[in-house]
Parts: sequence; C-alpha cells; structure tokens
Amino acid sequence: MEDPTSNPFEFGRELALADLVDREEELAELQRAGRECRKHFLIGPRRFGKSSLLAALEETAGKERGGPIVLRYNAERFSGPDRLARRLVADAAARLPGSVERIAGAIKRLFRSLRPELSYSPDTRSWSASIGVAAAQDALPALADALDGVERMAKDLDRPVAIVLDEFQHLVAGGAQAESQIRAAVQQHRHVAYIFAGSDTRLLTAMVGEAGRPFYRLGSRRFLGPIPRAAFAGFLGRGLAAVADVTDDGIAAILDLAEDVPYNVQLLAHACWEAAREASAAVTRAFVERVNRATAERQNPVYAQLWSSLTMAQQRTLLAIIYQGDEGLASTKVARAYGLPVTTIQRAREALMAKQVVREEASGSRLRLRLEDPLLGAWVRLFIPGPA
Ligand SMILES: Nc1ncnc2c1ncn2[C@@H]1O[C@H](COP(=O)(O)OP(=O)(O)OP(=O)(O)O)[C@@H](O)[C@H]1O
Ligand SMILES: [Mg+2]
Repeated sequence: MEDPTSNPFEFGRELALADLVDREEELAELQRAGRECRKHFLIGPRRFGKSSLLAALEETAGKERGGPIVLRYNAERFSGPDRLARRLVADAAARLPGSVERIAGAIKRLFRSLRPELSYSPDTRSWSASIGVAAAQDALPALADALDGVERMAKDLDRPVAIVLDEFQHLVAGGAQAESQIRAAVQQHRHVAYIFAGSDTRLLTAMVGEAGRPFYRLGSRRFLGPIPRAAFAGFLGRGLAAVADVTDDGIAAILDLAEDVPYNVQLLAHACWEAAREASAAVTRAFVERVNRATAERQNPVYAQLWSSLTMAQQRTLLAIIYQGDEGLASTKVARAYGLPVTTIQRAREALMAKQVVREEASGSRLRLRLEDPLLGAWVRLFIPGPA
C-alpha cells in the first residue's frame, strides 16, 4: 500500500472538472444550452454540486473552439441588480478584442442607455465600470439594459455568450416585478444563453413551475439529484484504498451516514482517510460510524449555536424528524409523544425549512423531509437527550 500525503477528498469549494464524480449528463446539458443560446434552470438542494457544475461549464467553454464566452456570477454577492449590471459592463469590456480606446468606444455604444464610464488598469489588465443609476427603482431596469447590451455584443462578435447566474433567487427577491422585468429582457435575447442556478428549491420550483409566473416554461430545467451510488462508491474506494483496507460495507456506511449529500460524503471520506491512515485501521461500517461521531463532536460549537437559536417547538419537531422520520409528523400520536399540538408541529416544520435546517425531497409521489446537513443529526443524537 502506498502512503500518499495528500487527502484526495475535498469539500467546501467548487471542484475542478477533473475532480467531479459523475454529472456528465448534467454538464452536457449546460454545454448544449450555452452553445445553442437557450435558457436553462439548474435547481438543487444545498451542497449538491451546483456551483461546481457551473465552474465546469466555464472551464470546458474556455477550451472549446467557438465555445460560448461565459460570464458567471453568484447573485448572492451583489448588493443590488445595478451592481451586477456594472460588473457585466466591465466583464464585457474584458472580453472584447482590440485596443483600449476601441473597446471603450464599443462599450459606450453597446451599453449606451447606461451611460457607462470605463477605466482600465494596465497593471492588473482589468476593467472597471460605473453606470448612471440614480435611484433604487432604476436598479432593475439597469440590469435589463446591461443584459440587452450583452446581447448586442454577442451579435456583433458572432459568438454566443452564456450568462450564468448562481443563487439566482437573490436577484428576484424583489418579487413579481423583478421577475417580470428580468424575463422581459431575457426572453428577447437570441445570442445569449442564460443558466439560472439556485438552491432555494421550493421557491425556485414554484418560480419556474407555476403557470402565470414570469419564468414559467421559459427554458429547460434540471433538478439536481444525488450522485449515483455506484460512481461515488468507486471514487471513495479508490481514494481510501491508498491508505487502508476498505470494505464495501464501510463505503456504503459513508454514503448512508452522509445521506448521499455530496459535500457530506466528501467531508466524511476526508475524515475517514485521515483516521485510517493514522490508525492503520480498516474502513468498516463501525469505523466510519466512529469517525462520523468524532466529526460531529468537532463541530459542537456550530451545532450548539444552531440548536439554541431554535424555539422549543422547533427543537422538539426536529427531534421528531430525526427519531421518527416525518411519516407520522402530522399524527396525534407523535404530537402527544413530543408534547406539542399538531398545528404547532406544522408551523415549526415550516420554520425549520425557512431556516434551511430541513428540506423537502420528492420521494415517489410524496415529499419527504431531509436534514440539510446530515451531520446535524449525528450531533443531536450525541448531545441532546432523545425522546423518552
Ligand atoms: N460531482 C461531484 N463529485 C464529487 N464531489 C462533489 C460533486 N459535486 C459536489 N461535490 C462536493 O460537494 C461540495 C459542494 O459543492 P458545490 O459548492 O459545487 O455545491 P453547491 O450545490 O453549489 O453548494 P451551495 O448550495 O452551498 O452553494 C464540493 O466541495 C464537493 O466536496
Ligand atoms: Mg453553490
């Protein structure tokens, strides 16, 4: 057995294309949408790998001859639509060919209605832009104008541009008006692809799935599910085999305890790799369970704080979800066992979803409740007294 020094399991950052397990189909879909200037929605729970897929799209587009120019943003990081508009203008400048003067001229023409002022820093070879937005109510129209400008640019260059908006729900948080203003711009465009990604599954699902909403049937949709177990198991087995003996049941335990959430799978695999190397132990189910408990323990400050931020009703409802599953959550038997009226449980369940502690997952014809972070379940089982 070799003794590699670097842990092959990574969590918490966008992965590079070469590090992605599976997801070929999802990536091909994004690439097609980019080439064909379509609109595509990528919707999935937190930490399932949305941003990594978007990064992979950007990576492959850069290598593909005639592939789209990818402009990728996380909407969460902009304090308003006008800020995003400004960035679009600056990034458009960075992608145009020619001399600084020529680019500045082209930007003024393409984004005329925004009256952009550009500056170029030769040191960092980067552009920055300011635009004339006076009032808050002009921020969304400014974004729509910037998108129109990108459409003109793509047409001029005769090359598709893909605008990728991660955590897209933040942009339309302004309500129905924001949705319809963005749609009005986007639906006209034929030379720009739009990839909208987001993790507020319920909100986004309603946005694209309800007739009458501006984004209804605007483009194709993909709900990002878990990574197929066979592919993930193969990846885990290869990584762990370099430092320890590995059993199939040990690998299955990693996927079980992490509830197939890709981030949690990598987190637990990372910890197992370290522990197995340290102790020269075999990766069995019992070993994985021990490592998972130790990992939950290390996160004690974080989970303790989360727990104490919940109301008593929310805490008890969470206990019921962890110990009972959500099957009987609406039953009077569970309500009695946890000392809460059924209606209180219902309200607490909604609050736990709003706080992103739990999420709904389609399971056959019904919706099942899952913990957003399965490790929280392990922490609760360790530190909080269970139901009698
Ligand atoms: N295809 C994949 N193969 C292996 N691991 C993955 C994959 N996708 C995601 N992961 C794991 O999940 C982590 C989170 O991925 P990423 O940030 O792309 O997810 P996300 O859905 O954008 O999360 P968030 O909702 O927090 O924005 C990665 O750092 C990695 O550990
Ligand atoms: Mg993300």
